[in-house]
Amino acid sequence: MISRNSKSFSLSCRVNGSELEREIPSSRSLLDFIREDLGLKGTKEGCGEGECGACMVLVDGLAVNSCLMMAVQLQGKELVTIEGIKGKDGGLHSLQKTFLAEGAVQCGFCTPGLIIASEALLRRKPDATLEDIKLELTGNLCRCTGYEKVLSAVEKARRK
Ligand code: FES
Ligand code: FES
Repeated sequence: MISRNSKSFSLSCRVNGSELEREIPSSRSLLDFIREDLGLKGTKEGCGEGECGACMVLVDGLAVNSCLMMAVQLQGKELVTIEGIKGKDGGLHSLQKTFLAEGAVQCGFCTPGLIIASEALLRRKPDATLEDIKLELTGNLCRCTGYEKVLSAVEKARRK
């Protein structure tokens, strides 16, 4: 239940597997909430206007650009940031392993968003084709890798 006064909300949600309750300014963007209030700096701020995908997180399993969403919209939902992406054994997730193995990370600024978008796709469609992967990642800009290694990494993770 959102309790509302003119300036704040009492937010109740799940973040990376844990329940969270927090009083937040009603005008807080989800991106600022994640980075500034929760201190989860793996989620990056690039363009700030929905063009680059660096700020991507999972909300109820769907990949969203957190710069375009308000924190109050998390009410009753589950947020997963890159810090919450793990393998079943608590170690690296298969996508993180294949990104490393394929050399799909250079400066790394885009990497959290790419892994979040890829995870959303593979949860929804474990047998995603190369075309599916390309389509899914159209909202994620990378200035370094040329994308080939990224696509290869997601294809390899798909088979794990
Ligand atoms: S910072 Fe959100 S899409 Fe670029
Ligand atoms: S690795 Fe540098 S922007 Fe993608």
